[in-house]
Amino acid sequence: MSITLNSPLDMHLHLRDEEMLSVVGPLSSESFSGAIIMPNLVPPVSTKEGLLSYKERILKACKNDTFTPYMTLFFKPTYTKAFLASVKDELTAIKLYPAGITTNSEGGVSGFDVDELRPTLDAMSELEIPLCVHGETNGFVMDREAEFVSIYEMLATNFPKLKIIMEHITTKESVAALEKFDNLYATITLHHLFITLDDVAGGMLQPHLFCKPIAKRPEDRDALRKVALEGHPKVMFGSDSAPHPQHAKESCGCAAGVFTAPIALQVLTEFFVKYSTVEKLQDFVSNNARNIYSNIEIPNKTITLEEKEFTVPQKYADVVPMYAGEKLKYSITEIN
Ligand code: NCD
Ligand code: ZN
Repeated sequence: MSITLNSPLDMHLHLRDEEMLSVVGPLSSESFSGAIIMPNLVPPVSTKEGLLSYKERILKACKNDTFTPYMTLFFKPTYTKAFLASVKDELTAIKLYPAGITTNSEGGVSGFDVDELRPTLDAMSELEIPLCVHGETNGFVMDREAEFVSIYEMLATNFPKLKIIMEHITTKESVAALEKFDNLYATITLHHLFITLDDVAGGMLQPHLFCKPIAKRPEDRDALRKVALEGHPKVMFGSDSAPHPQHAKESCGCAAGVFTAPIALQVLTEFFVKYSTVEKLQDFVSNNARNIYSNIEIPNKTITLEEKEFTVPQKYADVVPMYAGEKLKYSITEIN
């Protein structure tokens, strides 16, 4: 059986920089038409010059692939309307991190005071710049995302013209919030469609499945599966593929992030063929993002996958992917 996908997009991707970028960049640019590039470098991407030079480095790493990096800035409540207007044509979204909640997010927002955030968020609304949010409080780790729903509500009601993307949702509460507010959208990762906390810590600890937000309960995973498989128009694929070197994962003090970029389309294909349809997969990996992010141009690319065994490499350079060493049912056989 052969499946064709048109212009797949990864709406949440970490490409890092320097040597790591040269390893992981091509693994996305080969099979995806474009990706939203997260700005959590050290230091974060927060100036026009920083954004443009990072984009150059990405394009260089991705060589001649047909691939558009959709650039983002690291949210700061001090961004003025004049600054945002000057950078608007170069970026696709702005990413808001709560301070210290995940990898390289120390300079993020604390307190979520609406008056402090208002000038920047009003300017983003007027300039039609979407806001991507890492939605976790600093509460108990399993409750962080559900607790953040009240902050999503505050943002959605105070800034009704702002498109707000709840990044990498992992709970049924976030799925429910999607239905409540017109201006809330979501990305869902590959790994959160498959794993629960049991897979991370129920047996021997699996550092390569440790990420933020932490995988939750079976009923949460089921809620994510439902909206993904039905091609829900407010939901997009965003891998949150987040590579770390092997020593940073297999260590005392494991870094958060699951590396899935090179296996994502193969695994999603098997999943949608089994439980849904290829049309819904096309919605999930491309069409919905095209509609939600009305400000992006998407290069044409056709990916063919066939039912042909693919053994996931143990490592890509120094990075261990999800399902390392395991056999997948589908392979990418053609890219045009
Ligand atoms: C991401 C990373 O490593 O940059 N880690 C993760 O666990 N997802 C950051 C993020 O998206 O939270
Ligand atoms: Zn991420």
